[in-house]
Amino acid sequence: MRYRSHARIHAILTEHPGEPRSERTFTTSEDLRAGASGTWFLSPLGLVVVLLVLAANRAQRSPEFVSWRTMARLMSDVMPHSKMQDCIDYDAVAELYDLYAAATYDYDFFLSRISPGMRVLELTSGTGRLSIPLAKAGAVITCVDISQGMLSVLERKLEKGGLQANLLCADIQHLDFNEEFKIAVLPFQSFMELVGKEKQLNALRSIYQALMLNGRFYCTMHNPAVRRCMVDGVVRAVGSFESARGHIVVTGFETGGDPVVRRSQFIERFDEAGHAESRILQLMEFEMIDEGTFREMAVSVGFHVTAVFGDYTGRKYDAETSPVMIWELEKCEA
Ligand SMILES: C[S@@+](CC[C@H](N)C(=O)[O-])C[C@H]1O[C@@H](n2cnc3c(N)ncnc32)[C@H](O)[C@@H]1O
Repeated sequence: MRYRSHARIHAILTEHPGEPRSERTFTTSEDLRAGASGTWFLSPLGLVVVLLVLAANRAQRSPEFVSWRTMARLMSDVMPHSKMQDCIDYDAVAELYDLYAAATYDYDFFLSRISPGMRVLELTSGTGRLSIPLAKAGAVITCVDISQGMLSVLERKLEKGGLQANLLCADIQHLDFNEEFKIAVLPFQSFMELVGKEKQLNALRSIYQALMLNGRFYCTMHNPAVRRCMVDGVVRAVGSFESARGHIVVTGFETGGDPVVRRSQFIERFDEAGHAESRILQLMEFEMIDEGTFREMAVSVGFHVTAVFGDYTGRKYDAETSPVMIWELEKCEA
């Protein structure tokens, strides 16, 4: 389906002083093909948002346009929390994910903890950002992800690299293996995508079950005290990334945070001539989990906390300054 976008709306959204301009937010494309999960924006619901923005802008009667902060507030008012809950749709972004999520900062941390032949369980592996280096290092990995789209990309990459891994499309809350793993890793702070204590405990229990006695689980999360300053409704550019047929631009903003953060992420695709081809709005939620709460949950399922690191160089966790919490948990006798 093709949509005609409104040039004035584009201008309203992007010409606020000090905020990223058009290429980094919405494009004034004449024709936009909305991405799979982006259609709501141009749907009746989207129209409501747009009308609210126009109304707010008119009310201001100022030369300044409506800011993204206003836009964020309006969008979160219009998009009810309950409606967002089941919207994390990695299938919709699987083919683009590697373009904008190519971080390598945690490779050394994980690679230094594995050895060739070691049976490693990688949870929420996605398209294999970490799986590929683990497989190259000789680990015998089992990659679990709930998104078949993400796993299909990983499968292609493994094939292309002549590498092997067991891929399992499953929810990490409900794992059931015939084998036991020496080590389990959950990278990229993705444990936070389990929203609610029940899901978090389910996952911890099933990961505990999957490990051999004295096996270790490395669970990564953001430090809420540090991460929270980004949850302010302000649109930030993740970046502009080259693709085989042009480039993509990723922007996003976050609201909430007490404890659930709602993130709206826009992924726009442009062809070689710079014309917008598609737009995806990815709605995500993640939970700020504080140190005490996680420790209590981990211990309650039988884990022993052997270390908490505050970054990927292995520095000790500092509650006020560390960007992340990397938990090293050991399976002890129940
Ligand atoms: C931010 S991506 C991270 C992917 C990969 N680990 C990386 O480092 O690039 C989060 C991944 O977690 C997966 N995921 C989220 N909730 C999950 C669940 N309950 N069970 C399994 N996978 C899940 C998503 O499908 C997605 O691929």
